[in-house]
Amino acid sequence: MKNTAIIGLQWGDEGKGKIVDFLADKFDAIVRFQGGHNAGHTIKVGDKTYKLSLLPSGIIRGKFSVIGSGVVVDPIALFAEIQKIEEAGIKITHQNLAISENCCLILSVHRELDQLLESKKGENKIGTTGRGIGPAYEDRAGRRAIRVCDLLDEKTLNERIENLLFYHNLLRQSLGAKLITSKEIIAELSPIRERILSYSRPAFEISRDLSSKKIMFEGAQGALLDVTYGTYPFVTSSNTMAGQIALGSCLGVSDLHKTIGILKAYTTRVGSGPFPTELTCEIGKFLRIEGNEVGTVTGRDRRCGWFDAVLVRQAIQLSSVKEIALTKVDVLDKLEKIKICVGYKVDGKTYDYLPQSNAMWNKIEPIYEEIEGWKESTAGAKSLDELPKKALKYIKRIEELCGVKAVIISTGPKREETILTN
Ligand code: GDP
Ligand code: IMO
Ligand code: MG
Repeated sequence: MKNTAIIGLQWGDEGKGKIVDFLADKFDAIVRFQGGHNAGHTIKVGDKTYKLSLLPSGIIRGKFSVIGSGVVVDPIALFAEIQKIEEAGIKITHQNLAISENCCLILSVHRELDQLLESKKGENKIGTTGRGIGPAYEDRAGRRAIRVCDLLDEKTLNERIENLLFYHNLLRQSLGAKLITSKEIIAELSPIRERILSYSRPAFEISRDLSSKKIMFEGAQGALLDVTYGTYPFVTSSNTMAGQIALGSCLGVSDLHKTIGILKAYTTRVGSGPFPTELTCEIGKFLRIEGNEVGTVTGRDRRCGWFDAVLVRQAIQLSSVKEIALTKVDVLDKLEKIKICVGYKVDGKTYDYLPQSNAMWNKIEPIYEEIEGWKESTAGAKSLDELPKKALKYIKRIEELCGVKAVIISTGPKREETILTN
């Protein structure tokens, strides 16, 4: 098996965790390359449910799991997640988890700032997960972040904290928030310092270890939340597309051989921002209930809508995706008619991509193709023969519109409820 990336092609929650877990036995190592604990990946194996945010999903199968240099790490959240996973019977050791020492830390100042800014934005809020992701990436770009390796030396750490607080306290003062002292940050870091350092490794060393292994790169969020190509500013603060793998995983461009895009058979998004095919009617509610569309991280209801081939085609093109995994086909089982968006109309002009100008977004009229529902159960199907003809027709139409092949079809949340089409 070639080194393979699994990335989301919509607004996240496409079922990446399930597919990573399904394929993980064919790989030696699983690497996260961006995002943080804003991600929420639910994996069902037998009667067990695992919810992961920061740990690579391959950890469930005991695979060597790497938190790569492009990830922002909240140590408190990480250790809480490790504890939960260990309670569920999975041992996390220095043999199966490595964290790049270049990772930037998410601290309480980031969480607070994220929540404070969102609360002040009113209607313009992004609807972030409130985990401090945006402020942490801002600090990375602003060259004032504290990285895992900064914990090694006390003098360096103190200097880094002073530098961080110089900026944050200016901001906090203008927002009317309590000023922070370096003592408080040190008190926050002291209990986790040794422990996080024990998992931390130089990126170079991780890279050398990975070079002899079959690797799966696990994306978080989805292409439409990418900070460069997504529905900006309603995006996350990292690059989520395949191009980010080379920078965020401790490996280089030639180490990625194949990218599988994960697509839900319909569309969902959490938080604010444009959503041309959103259904605010009964069908939207049906998809939410049938698909159990509630955020893993924040427990918010996900907005639901029809499959949007326009947005997906864009994501496929920008990440060189040739193969897809189509998930949650079973959620559509009971529908009489199913729609696919094949283009947009704005002020009478037709578009085959999402115009980037925010001013055009609420004028978009989706152009739909209607397909007959199959009205039979596909839930738990494990081979193509078990799928009704009309369901196969729906899948084929998605393949045609997106110019890719569905190599995996997922028909339920459990590992085995999966079809390999080759
Ligand atoms: P991720 O963030 O991309 O990993 O996706 P999430 O785990 O946040 O959301 C996907 C949800 O759908 C999870 O609750 C999965 O257990 C569930 N799921 C995944 N694949 C399927 C499927 O084919 N059918 C159904 N019904 N549920 C699925
Ligand atoms: P997974 O990996 C769905 C969304 C938030 C918000 C925006 C910015 O489970 O697919 P942030 O906290 O990142 O600054 O929030 O991005 N968001 C996600 N939506 N799935 C995710 O991850 C998400 N991670 C962030 O809801 O709209
Ligand atoms: Mg999720």
